[in-house]
Amino acid sequence: MTSSIRGLDNFWLPFTANRMFKKSPRLITGAKGMFYYTSQGQEVLDATSGLWCVNAGHGRLEIRDAVASQMESLDYAPSFLQLSHPLAFELAHQISELSPKGLSKIFFTNSGSDAVDTALKIALAYHQKNGEPQRSRFVGRSRSYHGVNFGGMSVGGIQNNQEAFSSSLLHGVCHMRHTHNLKKQQFSRGQPEWGAEIADDLKNLIGMYGAKTIAAVIIEPIAGSTGLLVPPLGYLERLLNIARENGILVIFDEVITGFGRLGVAFAAQYFNLSPDMIVMGKGITNASIPMGAVAVKDEIYETVVSESPIYSPEFFHGYTYSAHPSACAAALAALKIYSDENLFFRSSEMSKYFEDGIHSLKKAPIVVDIRNLGMLGAIELREVNDYIGCIALEVHYRCFSKGLLVRHTGNSITISPPLIASYQDIDQIIDTLDLVLHSF
Ligand SMILES: Cc1ncc(COP(=O)(O)O)c(C=O)c1O
Repeated sequence: MTSSIRGLDNFWLPFTANRMFKKSPRLITGAKGMFYYTSQGQEVLDATSGLWCVNAGHGRLEIRDAVASQMESLDYAPSFLQLSHPLAFELAHQISELSPKGLSKIFFTNSGSDAVDTALKIALAYHQKNGEPQRSRFVGRSRSYHGVNFGGMSVGGIQNNQEAFSSSLLHGVCHMRHTHNLKKQQFSRGQPEWGAEIADDLKNLIGMYGAKTIAAVIIEPIAGSTGLLVPPLGYLERLLNIARENGILVIFDEVITGFGRLGVAFAAQYFNLSPDMIVMGKGITNASIPMGAVAVKDEIYETVVSESPIYSPEFFHGYTYSAHPSACAAALAALKIYSDENLFFRSSEMSKYFEDGIHSLKKAPIVVDIRNLGMLGAIELREVNDYIGCIALEVHYRCFSKGLLVRHTGNSITISPPLIASYQDIDQIIDTLDLVLHSF
């Protein structure tokens, strides 16, 4: 098997244990609906939506057709030359309609990581134009993931990233505590009751550094990649109030929570909150073509574009492929599927069944916690040192051999099925996990 893959030694896989992978490579060669198909002919139920991104399920022909037809008529339009193309405006309009009221300016990027760094730069540009250039500090949160660019890594709270690149991270970033407390929140269904007061960490940082040095606070409304940390009841509201009272912009990183995970377009709407910017990616094109975006409050845009000479770019930032025509076509087709199939609503309807299913796994002795909200779930496992890597990786492998793809992250297994999942699909996910978790 190993020797038959040409290029096995050439491809440096991202965020992967390369040597382990190359000893026993697993290749996916097809996907349709809820399933992946491997080169060995195995059918695998995708309980991760790829990587939290294939929200409408795999192999959507509507997206294929939209991209093919776009490539035929216009493959690329240079966006740095005072030029653009019609789909970019249509997509910006549709995303602004999906976003909370007042966030109607859309900046396109190539990925979630690019969107995070774009939002940080917009925050700096806003304060400079708004007469407060000294507001240059960012506040992030422990156990948050904001992608892999230097800005995102700096505000992110993942120890491995921080350690690996510590000498080159942004200066002046500080972090709040994360909101998870196993003792006080164990097996909470939905939002835990304890922990709103952790939002006061922002107050403490203001006390330490002065509000007028802080440009923005960035958080994932639900931290995804570090094992699904659901915000305690009242936490987000309290955090936003503190930020507002102190002139600090609030950026929600909704790369995971965007496009229906919580039964609405964005988590901001689920929590009935209006941040100043929303960072998005992944589900924007149903993962078919790389794309990210930032939805920005009108007032921020107006301030940033004001007072520059009419011939000069107001914001020195952008990507060769910002609003790439194929990505725009893919995104418009994805948004149409979400709407035609009422997938956000479906996600909200299915979430109770999903919650009951995942919490039924509590009986397995290796489970120490279960967390969920919307169509997002995590199972935290007891530390066991008998396996290469960690126990969650072993669970991932055992599930895969039984035809189920789940994600392992730290000691947790995360689940985020495509929003097209049926009751039967949810049953299959839970039954397989039940079997595997009881095999330890
Ligand atoms: C919350 C969050 N922000 C940003 C990113 C980075 O997105 P990308 O991998 O598309 O650069 C991710 C990726 O998982 C994410 O989960």
